[in-house]
Amino acid sequence: MYDGVKHLCGMRTIIAGNWKMHKDKAGVADLITRLVAGVRSSPTRVEVVIAPAFPFLGMAVSMSFGEGLHVAAQNCHEEPDGAFTGEVSAPMLKSVGISHCIVGHSERRQFFGETDEAVGRKITALDRVGITPVLCCGEQREERENGRHFDVVATQLHTALAGQDPKVFARTVIAYEPVWAIGTGLTASAGQAQEMHAFIRSELVKIAGEGAHEMPILYGGSCKPDNAAEILAGPDVNGGLIGGASLDPASFLEIVRIADAPMP
Ligand code: 13P
Repeated sequence: MYDGVKHLCGMRTIIAGNWKMHKDKAGVADLITRLVAGVRSSPTRVEVVIAPAFPFLGMAVSMSFGEGLHVAAQNCHEEPDGAFTGEVSAPMLKSVGISHCIVGHSERRQFFGETDEAVGRKITALDRVGITPVLCCGEQREERENGRHFDVVATQLHTALAGQDPKVFARTVIAYEPVWAIGTGLTASAGQAQEMHAFIRSELVKIAGEGAHEMPILYGGSCKPDNAAEILAGPDVNGGLIGGASLDPASFLEIVRIADAPMP
C-alpha cells in the first residue's frame, strides 16, 4: 500500500532530464561532470536519466559509466538499418550503451509529424535491443479546454502499445506531458497531474493487465524544484521528465533529492 514513500513499495522513481537541442560538447561534458559530482556526494535511490543530443551520447555513456547516471536518446528510427539519411536506429543506440530512449515527445509529433503508429513501431524496435522506451503522451491546450484530454491520451497509449509483445510492458516507462505546460512556465496542478496519471494507470491495466501497476508514469511540463514536491507526491506520479530545469545541475539535482525524500 502506498504510504508516501513510493520507492519503498517496489515502484521505481525516475527523474529524467531531456536536454533537447541544447548544449555543445563542452556544455554536455560540464553538465555531466557536475551531475556525477552531485550523485557521488549524495547517493540516491532514484533512477537518474539524462538525454543529451545524439553526437554526445557516446561521451555521455563513458562519463556516466558506474556513476549512477543512465543515458537516454531523445528519439530513434523504427528500422534497424537502411537508407534513412540522418536517422539513428535502436541497435546503433544499444551499441554505444544507451539504456533508455524517449519516443513520441510532443515536439517530435508537432515538428516532425511523428504519429502514434510510428511511435509504436519505435517501441518495438527498442524492445528488440533491450532499451527502455519512455513513451510520451499528453494533450494540447485546446483539447483540455474542450474536455477531450482523456480521450486524446487514451488514443495515444492504446495506439502505440496495441499489439506489443507483453514483455514490452515490463520495460516501458510512460511520461505524461501536457503540451500546454511544456516550456511555458505553466504546470498541471498536482490534482490535474494525479488525475491524469490515475487515468493513464487505468488505461494501462486494460492494455497490459496487472503489470501496469509496475509501469512508472512520469510527469513533464515546467517541473522545477519549487513545484516538484507537490507534483511528485501524487500516488500515481512515479517521477519526472524535466526539460528546462534539467539544464541547470543544481536544479536537476534538487529535483532528484526531492524525489528521493519521503513525501508528506
Ligand atoms: P520543460 O520542463 O522545459 O517544460 O520541458 C518538459 C519536457 O518537454 C521534457 O520532455
